[in-house]
Amino acid sequence: MRQFRIAPSILSADFARLGEEVRDVVAAGADIIHVDVMDNHYVPNLTIGPMVCKAIRPYTEAMIDVHLMVKPVDALAVQFAKAGANMITFHPEASDHVDRTLGLIRDNGCKAGLVINPAAPLHHLDHVMDKLDMVLIMSVNPGFGGQSFIPEALNKIRMTRERIDAWTAKHGGEIWLEVDGGVKIDNIAEIARAGADTFVAGSAIYGQPDYRGVINAMRAELAT
Ligand code: DX5
Ligand code: ZN
Repeated sequence: MRQFRIAPSILSADFARLGEEVRDVVAAGADIIHVDVMDNHYVPNLTIGPMVCKAIRPYTEAMIDVHLMVKPVDALAVQFAKAGANMITFHPEASDHVDRTLGLIRDNGCKAGLVINPAAPLHHLDHVMDKLDMVLIMSVNPGFGGQSFIPEALNKIRMTRERIDAWTAKHGGEIWLEVDGGVKIDNIAEIARAGADTFVAGSAIYGQPDYRGVINAMRAELAT
């Protein structure tokens, strides 16, 4: 069976006590901390920079997965790598030289991934599969937490799974398939059946008082 990973997005956490929120959600069973970086330019919202990533780093040994919704990408990618990120993903439309940016992220010691918006084609993945550790399929338009899952994303996830499996069967290695936006207890099993292995969930987890209860319920759904 595929290995599943649950990645709470701290976008929906209590920013006044972010360190504890990170520690608590990992203690509740989270695998990865998803950090949404928005610049009020590439997306119409503003969140956090590398200083905050550095500040939360000591609170967990879990992987920090930085989702850059910024333009330009390169300088911030390097700063987040230095601030303790383990994985950095970005939107290909936001970089003038996608191949170079992927290389830059890996050269700075992080895993690298591309993010595909709901209306963006999968051909952004062509010619760079060898430089990818993860593909992130957006199931909402980026910019805000708490939006509803766009059903067409399931089709996109299936197509991405086919591409990844075809690539890794031929060339080896591992490429994770992450889904971000509107992931809940009641749709996570269907998203997994479409081919996802890594699940970002912001409001579904941080919007409830019992993080462990939500994460356990998600894992139970994934086991069905
Ligand atoms: C949206 C962000 C998501 C967001 C998910 O731009 O990339 O990570 O926090 O939030 P939920 O799970 O509430 O849809
Ligand atoms: Zn995200």
